[in-house]
Amino acid sequence: MGALLALEGLCVAYGHVQALHEVSLAVEEGTILALLGANGAGKTSLLGAAAGLVRPRRGRILFQGRDITGQTVPRRLAAGLALVPEGRRILVSLTIEENLLVGAHLRRDPEGVRRDVAALYERFPNLGRRRHMAAACLSGGEQQMLAVGRAMVARPRLLMLDEPSLGLSPLFIAHLFDLVRELNRDGITILLVEQNTGMALAIAHHAVVLELGRVAMAGDPSRLAADPLLAAAYLGHAAPDAPPHQEPATAEGVTG
Ligand SMILES: Nc1ncnc2c1ncn2[C@@H]1O[C@H](COP(=O)(O)OP(=O)(O)OP(=O)(O)O)[C@@H](O)[C@H]1O
Ligand SMILES: [Mg+2]
Repeated sequence: MGALLALEGLCVAYGHVQALHEVSLAVEEGTILALLGANGAGKTSLLGAAAGLVRPRRGRILFQGRDITGQTVPRRLAAGLALVPEGRRILVSLTIEENLLVGAHLRRDPEGVRRDVAALYERFPNLGRRRHMAAACLSGGEQQMLAVGRAMVARPRLLMLDEPSLGLSPLFIAHLFDLVRELNRDGITILLVEQNTGMALAIAHHAVVLELGRVAMAGDPSRLAADPLLAAAYLGHAAPDAPPHQEPATAEGVTG
């Protein structure tokens, strides 16, 4: 099977801050790709460019072999490319069901949407029981499930998740990783951005580590998991045999 998503020489900049330098990677159809990297490495910028939220300065984005670099967000979503953004961004004043229907707004098969929403309620009984309540009543973990559910209702072929485990309890993190694996078994290709390196590498088929906007490492997850340099690249710490570094930690370097 070929690449479902391919990025070729992608450059993204915000004014003078260059977030991605000539990044190329491919997400093979049917696989889970873990995208790792320290704070500020460019992970969200990469997902944003793929989803159409950020316009790259240079490079191409191919989805199912077609160049989508200039396409709008809704066209990409309709083609099967969905993003669960950093920090969930669910609409807390809308009900749970209304949130799910936002994900379906491009679909023209109301019967199919109803079936998919019912299936989601079966998968997540906590959402089903409270479908007519404001999403604000959900816990952080339940809100993350709702954010994933909302993306699922768009029937994506590629699901991109930006740090979905951030701020969740260990139990919910385990549920979330089970869910990602299950969705992948159902045939959905996954691009997973995670700070939870160990768990992401455990479920991924391929892994890419970004460092300061460049691909620093790529390959087999078990090989990367065993690589002592991964901790250095991922955590932004000095390599084990380098001299300890002097500056105090800045607020930016601290994970929320
Ligand atoms: N809207 C923006 N305006 C200016 N600079 C930005 C903007 N978004 C990101 N950046 C900068 O681009 C670089 C990459 O940021 P990005 O958010 O893509 O990294 P990240 O790997 O997702 O980090 P994190 O782990 O903190 O989410 C950083 O230097 C960041 O400060
Ligand atoms: Mg980010």
